[in-house]
Amino acid sequence: MNLPVKYRPKTFDDVVGQEHVVKTLKNALKHKKISNAYLFTGQRGIGKTTIARILAKGLNCEKGPTPEPCGKCAMCREIEEGNSLDVIEIDGASNRGIDQIRELRENVRFMPVHARYKVIIIDEVHMLTNEAFNALLKTLEEPPENVVFIFATTEPRKIPETVLSRVQRFDFRPLSEKTLIERLKYICDRENIKCEEEALSLIFEASEGSMRDAISLLEQAYIYGEGEIKAESLREVLGILEEETFFNLFKMIKEENSKGVIELLHSVLNRGYSLYDFHRGLIKAAYGLMHAALLGHDNKYKELAPYFPEQDILYVFKILKDMEQTLRLSNYPRALFEYELLKLANLKKIVPRGAFQIAESRDISPTPPLYNIHSDMKKENIREGNQNHELLKKLIEELNLKEVNNNGSF
Ligand SMILES: Nc1ncnc2c1ncn2[C@@H]1O[C@H](COP(=O)(O)OP(=O)(O)O)[C@@H](O)[C@H]1O
Ligand SMILES: [Mg+2]
Ligand SMILES: [Zn+2]
Repeated sequence: MNLPVKYRPKTFDDVVGQEHVVKTLKNALKHKKISNAYLFTGQRGIGKTTIARILAKGLNCEKGPTPEPCGKCAMCREIEEGNSLDVIEIDGASNRGIDQIRELRENVRFMPVHARYKVIIIDEVHMLTNEAFNALLKTLEEPPENVVFIFATTEPRKIPETVLSRVQRFDFRPLSEKTLIERLKYICDRENIKCEEEALSLIFEASEGSMRDAISLLEQAYIYGEGEIKAESLREVLGILEEETFFNLFKMIKEENSKGVIELLHSVLNRGYSLYDFHRGLIKAAYGLMHAALLGHDNKYKELAPYFPEQDILYVFKILKDMEQTLRLSNYPRALFEYELLKLANLKKIVPRGAFQIAESRDISPTPPLYNIHSDMKKENIREGNQNHELLKKLIEELNLKEVNNNGSF
């Protein structure tokens, strides 16, 4: 099926979002004010290559230069099929070196074969070597007539200032939820795909504003769901757990129910989800909880928020960070992940009010052992009459404060 290819826009009007880019380029074509070099920046799958090709058609269409390439003439068709000798697409990632750019410089010295303009599209241009950039720069400084460069990149910061100053730059934006979902609905209509509204929102979230990713996902979910796309089955495809799971988890944490949290993890794993899926969902939930607790946001975690003061939230995120490390580096991810989860369940016992920031700022991990031995350290510190441990003193003060403040509340 390959829906992303099938639904690649062929005209400017078919492009969704990127209005600022489309409008400027259409005007440029209309008034024949063409730059020698354009730079398209932005994340993957939001229309950079698509618009580069439409621009190439607009420049070279028999009826052109025109903001409305016909799509029917030999030029337009050749460009659409990728057969034009005058529209050259180069992948900067695999043609990084000076030789390739020299070759290119040779090439652009000749007039276009058939077309009005030679159009050189270099994708992932930030991958070029410094030497290659320098060679390119020479061409940009004395641009041959009838040559238009279109550079595309996901990482504009890696492009030398000297090059940046010679291009007209367009920053492409991730697609908004509304725009992206509208496009998906349009595709569903045409393809006779039935798709639940909630599933579309899930696709949007997972795609992070990338149209290509969203359309690929739609296709994947369609195949998985045998013609129908349900939120439920999409979650399975994406490994997204319901928010309810994490709401329950935080409820158990609040109740210090160690057994409960471990059992919850087991039930999730038994349903075929991975530790990664669990962790991803947990981060999202903690993020929601943080916003509810600190900013008073009205979300799913609102009713739990009063039970999680800032100190707890800080510690939750510390554990989430450790979990990530465990997943990435450990030979025993499952056991250590459960250990971290247990720490979450014991949050209320092991987070000393006020101590976290001090410990974190000195990069001492505020994990339980530190605090289990704190009374020993206190004794030792006093016995030795050590005056240097300002940090420790402060820490102990805070801890004492905690003991007074929290009397009976733990
Ligand atoms: N702005 C857009 N409007 C409509 N479809 C888009 C848009 N951006 C991306 N797409 C879809 O995603 C696919 C890949 O887009 P592409 O232009 O190659 O992305 P990029 O070059 O930014 O990585 C297209 O074939 C099209 O199906
Ligand atoms: Mg591209
Ligand atoms: Zn044409």
